[in-house]
Amino acid sequence: MKKHLIITIDGPSGAGKSTIAKKIAERLNYKYVDTGAMYRGVAYAFKYYGFLEKEEDKLHEILKHLPLEFHFKNNAIVIFNGNNITEDIRTPEISMLASKLSQNKTVRYFLTEKQREEGRSGGVVIEGRDTGTVVFPDADIKFYLDAREEERTKRRFLEFKAKGLELDLEKLKDEMKKRDKDDSERQIAPLKIPEGAIYIDTTGLDIEAVTERLMDYIKVRL
Ligand code: DC
Repeated sequence: MKKHLIITIDGPSGAGKSTIAKKIAERLNYKYVDTGAMYRGVAYAFKYYGFLEKEEDKLHEILKHLPLEFHFKNNAIVIFNGNNITEDIRTPEISMLASKLSQNKTVRYFLTEKQREEGRSGGVVIEGRDTGTVVFPDADIKFYLDAREEERTKRRFLEFKAKGLELDLEKLKDEMKKRDKDDSERQIAPLKIPEGAIYIDTTGLDIEAVTERLMDYIKVRL
């Protein structure tokens, strides 16, 4: 019988985590959990309600009652107030807000618990910044995806372009740099290579090649 592994994928923005995690989940018929979408969903809701400067002691209650739903299967769907906001959370503004909010310990503890609930029974590919270090440090297989900075920026730029958004390349580069720096230097659950993780540099590799490389490590564990 096939094993229901917990597979984590961490790495900086634009390293290909979402694309690859989705592909792997599809191949294995596993659940795909996008933890970044959860931070983005909370950022979207906080912006909507103007909660960004809320007092710390009220945060947990606020988080518990947000009309926010996450549906993870072979895709990550985020619903807010009954509306599908999966695409709306992918803007540069929400990226920066999510990164800022992710420094808050109440937000992190709240979402980390939800992420553990999603993946606990295995058969899951979960990706983000701390999935192999904090969310599932005992995961069956941990990956860390990386790529050279210019390539990561270019990938993001092309993603936005495909959606009809022409962004300033230099501005996008600065924002991604700041976000990666903040995510790596924050006090709680900073982005880093998890202990025992397989490090893969995806620079110059296409999606299929990266998927195959990860699958080679996974197959022997199934
Ligand atoms: O993966 P992403 O770009 O959608 O994530 C958006 C932000 O959310 C990221 O800049 C930092 C935060 N995040 C986090 O702190 N921990 C995670 N596991 C995932 C995302």
